[in-house]
Amino acid sequence: MNPDIPLQLLGGITAREFLRDYWQKKPLLIRQAIPDFESPIDADELAGLALEEEVESRLVLEHGEHPWELRRGPFAEDAFSKLPERDWTLLVQAVDQFVPEVAELLENFRFLPSWRIDDVMMSFAAPGGSVGPHFDNYDVFLLQGHGQRNWKIGQMCDSESPLLKHADLRILADFEETAEWVLEPGDMLYLPPRLAHWGVAVDDCLTYSVGFRAPSAAEVLTHFTDFLSQFLPDEERYTDADATPVSDPHQIQHDALDRLKGLLAEHMSDERLLLTWFGQFMTEPRYPELVVGPELEEEDLLGSLEQGAVLIRNPSARLAWSEVDEDLLLFASGQSRLLPGKLRELLKMVCAADALHVDNLGPWLADDDGRNLLCELVKQGSLGFADE
Ligand code: SIN
Ligand code: CO
Repeated sequence: MNPDIPLQLLGGITAREFLRDYWQKKPLLIRQAIPDFESPIDADELAGLALEEEVESRLVLEHGEHPWELRRGPFAEDAFSKLPERDWTLLVQAVDQFVPEVAELLENFRFLPSWRIDDVMMSFAAPGGSVGPHFDNYDVFLLQGHGQRNWKIGQMCDSESPLLKHADLRILADFEETAEWVLEPGDMLYLPPRLAHWGVAVDDCLTYSVGFRAPSAAEVLTHFTDFLSQFLPDEERYTDADATPVSDPHQIQHDALDRLKGLLAEHMSDERLLLTWFGQFMTEPRYPELVVGPELEEEDLLGSLEQGAVLIRNPSARLAWSEVDEDLLLFASGQSRLLPGKLRELLKMVCAADALHVDNLGPWLADDDGRNLLCELVKQGSLGFADE
């Protein structure tokens, strides 16, 4: 994607300008980001998804059993017929994993790394429905799918911002409105992390939220050190072979800290391990139980492909790749594989999630490493056979 071409999706600015001026910095309202947008799924289909065991869904009722009642799915079929006329919202997570047309929307966001994208959440709200004024710790693009929604934005928040005393939802106690817009289908609002926002349905309304993944500093440190510790033998310890006599045996001298800092720095600066951990972490699937594959022999894979089978990315899988010296690392749904540099184009094809078949795979099927990789990815569940 050429970053210097003005994009309708971004209101006529280029991806480079958007990243420079807005991304992670300030909100942007885009009228008709997707002109004449027609939602590929309607409220009934969304409600249908919320009945499914493997789908994460929530209902928020402003005037439920208590103010801002949260109910968690999966829901029973009659759950929706019992709802009041207004002031409730149904939210369904990761709709892109279940509806290919919703996954296609993500093609519009190819100017951002795919491993930064978390999922497409969808909400259906009855008139007046809202999840209350709140902030999120990640960037979001809010695309209006159907009906109208009134969006208000407010102040920048942080973990000190006062919240309503409420067990289920993080609703801001104070909302300092700075702007307000009514969004029509196809309009989109970009919000940076931590900006207070409050979207209230004007009529029956569907909203798409493209959300992003950003590990917290606490997650980076705890998960990376957990990962690292698997590779550290018990005998590797704090050492002080350079010690000198102490003047007070009860004092912790700063040279002890220097040794500790040295130990930390030595391991923290292991770039290969950091990259391996990061790629695995960022490609962890939301629903690992949906990333499972069949037992498969390479000959069977070849046979199927030769008979016209097509491989596609499992919509629940996440893929990314990187370089380490002459080699490549492929990250597939929380796992990593070190691969020879010659597989670069195959890795790109696999990660781009395009359909893979004999015509485009061509020579890769004759290559031992290439064939083995494809077979392993099918067995792992990251790639699967398309239905047709
Ligand atoms: C919604 O779609 O109702 C809420 C989305 C959000 O505020 O993040
Ligand atoms: Co939000």
